[in-house]
Amino acid sequence: MSTINNLNVDRENTTTLDYDSTAYDAYRPTYSSRLYTKIYEYHTSHSSSFSTALDVATGTGCVARELSKTFQQVYANDISQDMISSASAFNSSNIQYSISAAEDLSQFKDSTIDLVTVATALHWIDCEKFFKEAWRVLKQNGTLAIFGYSSFHIVNGYPAATKEFKKFTLETFGDYFDPRMVLIDNMYRDIVIPDELFKNIIWERNEYNEKEGNMNDGECYLNKEWSVEQLKNFMKSWSFYRSYMSKCQKENQKIEDPVDKLFEKLKEKEGWKDEQILKISWSFVLGLAEKN
Ligand SMILES: C[S@@+](CC[C@H](N)C(=O)[O-])C[C@H]1O[C@@H](n2cnc3c(N)ncnc32)[C@H](O)[C@@H]1O
Repeated sequence: MSTINNLNVDRENTTTLDYDSTAYDAYRPTYSSRLYTKIYEYHTSHSSSFSTALDVATGTGCVARELSKTFQQVYANDISQDMISSASAFNSSNIQYSISAAEDLSQFKDSTIDLVTVATALHWIDCEKFFKEAWRVLKQNGTLAIFGYSSFHIVNGYPAATKEFKKFTLETFGDYFDPRMVLIDNMYRDIVIPDELFKNIIWERNEYNEKEGNMNDGECYLNKEWSVEQLKNFMKSWSFYRSYMSKCQKENQKIEDPVDKLFEKLKEKEGWKDEQILKISWSFVLGLAEKN
């Protein structure tokens, strides 16, 4: 079973993920109701059961919280103790959290889950093991929903600023990118959901068109109206921003925060104030599959 095409993702040469759960919870975008509607419509097309859902790599739990409004029981796991502590600060009688890896779902019995979700995390996970485990725990006709976002774009003008963000991110943090990020940057095109385990597989992608300076056709599953200040804080929730800052601190380098510096420059160039509202869209991928 080959789950990654045309790409050599060197899993030996990866970095340790370094998320700040507080910044993550406060500044990452939450997913749209349109996305959940799409997932539930797909699920309803082959199953009427909304009893149990499992959100793997839940992070600070925004997907689990949303699923708990629809499913009777939600399970949410993550490999990071810090992320799970933050997620479980939100008390809900029908969400059960655990610290465990997506590749080993042995705490769940065979054929017990209606929906398995994995949001902005499949690239961190060993897909081959995960797909087998997701298939095993899903009920007959259960649904696997994979989704995630990559780069962001300002869509109410400011094309020069969008270009500047891209250039800055590559030049400043390029050395801190984990090789697995290529998978999400390429909108999971290199990942194959095995058809011996899943059927009715569909992929949707909504991406930024560099030439036109806007998002291409297709459903836009992640957009926000954010202030300049919110966008700055979002950039500081990136794991590679944190890795960059801790390396500089370890080496006792006195540096000006590069994200603050970039925003000072853009505010001057574009005439932005902190509270100025920007319309932002993220390139987004959604993959849906039914258990075979
Ligand atoms: C970008 S965050 C996404 C969090 C959440 N799903 C969301 O969409 O907000 C990626 C998460 O994957 C978790 N993770 C990475 N590798 C994992 C693995 N092998 N098993 C479970 N969780 C993992 C990280 O700890 C982190 O919380």
